[in-house]
Amino acid sequence: MPRRLSGFKPTGHLHLGNLLGAVRPAIEEDSVILIADLHALTVTHDPARVRGLTRELATLLLAAGAEPDRAPCYVQSHVPEHTELHYLLECATSYGEAHRMIQFKEQAATQEQVRLSLLTYPTLMAADILLHDVEEVPVGADQTQHVELARDVAVRFNNRYGPTFTVPKAVNPSFGGRIRNLSDPAGKMGKTNDREAGVLFLLDPPEVLRQKIMRAVTDTVGEVRYDPQGQPGVANLLEILAGCVGDSPSTLAGLFRSYGELKEVVADSVVATLRPIQARYADLAAEPGAVEGILRDGARRARSQTRAVVRRARDRLGLLPGTGAE
Ligand code: TRP
Repeated sequence: MPRRLSGFKPTGHLHLGNLLGAVRPAIEEDSVILIADLHALTVTHDPARVRGLTRELATLLLAAGAEPDRAPCYVQSHVPEHTELHYLLECATSYGEAHRMIQFKEQAATQEQVRLSLLTYPTLMAADILLHDVEEVPVGADQTQHVELARDVAVRFNNRYGPTFTVPKAVNPSFGGRIRNLSDPAGKMGKTNDREAGVLFLLDPPEVLRQKIMRAVTDTVGEVRYDPQGQPGVANLLEILAGCVGDSPSTLAGLFRSYGELKEVVADSVVATLRPIQARYADLAAEPGAVEGILRDGARRARSQTRAVVRRARDRLGLLPGTGAE
């Protein structure tokens, strides 16, 4: 049984930071991989875009090596237990708890019409996690508070109604949360970033990748050293290289005499890292029916786990058996 769960929201194109920091570790550790499409509906959305991004994300995860035979990889809305457990958990979560979430406060402040689902988003995320009995959830800093809420709800539910859920904890991604935007190394490489010139998207053609890397912001020191504080742009390039070739940034720093030389090698390594993924993506995208079949099958298999958890929760809460998840 997988020990970890990784969730990906189809609200933007995957980039190299996602690959090194989240996708690769999830695949290597045989984590549950969840394509959280319902989470994309919590803010104003364009249906065609969500559908397109969900397909793209699923295809890319498969192209990067996700193997649904080994560990569950599926689309959230294909498994109705997510919404069912979401409601049950709302009955163990307080309004104040949800309202206190920093991400809710920040996002709600910028919107005229705040969807109710934006407020309850963390209970849906808690359902995602608790359905799989996982112990660890690798997330970036912006999602840590949500995993803590899932933990609180699990503990409370278990205390009140008897042992039901595995209590999860947030873990920091091992790598790549660190990858910065190439045009602005003060900010991270984000998928909904407006500084796209500094974001290496997994589906960027080789020439575009190369161009973005050659234009990356550096500094005037003129020496290749690994100094994230003093030389953030150069350090970022070294981290990217390290992620691609599997060596340490400080060792790699010693190999280059100029920024130009470093950039050339980073460009070659990024292109080489993404080439096989892009090739598999092209093959898979040519057969959308096959991808959909893989996803349906993934969801069908995940349901033996998710149904069992929902059954447990329903029973603990005092609902009569005989409907729904049974
Ligand atoms: N909320 C996460 C994000 O915005 C995506 C997500 C949904 C998730 N469900 C999850 C992450 C479960 C970890 C576990 O990126």
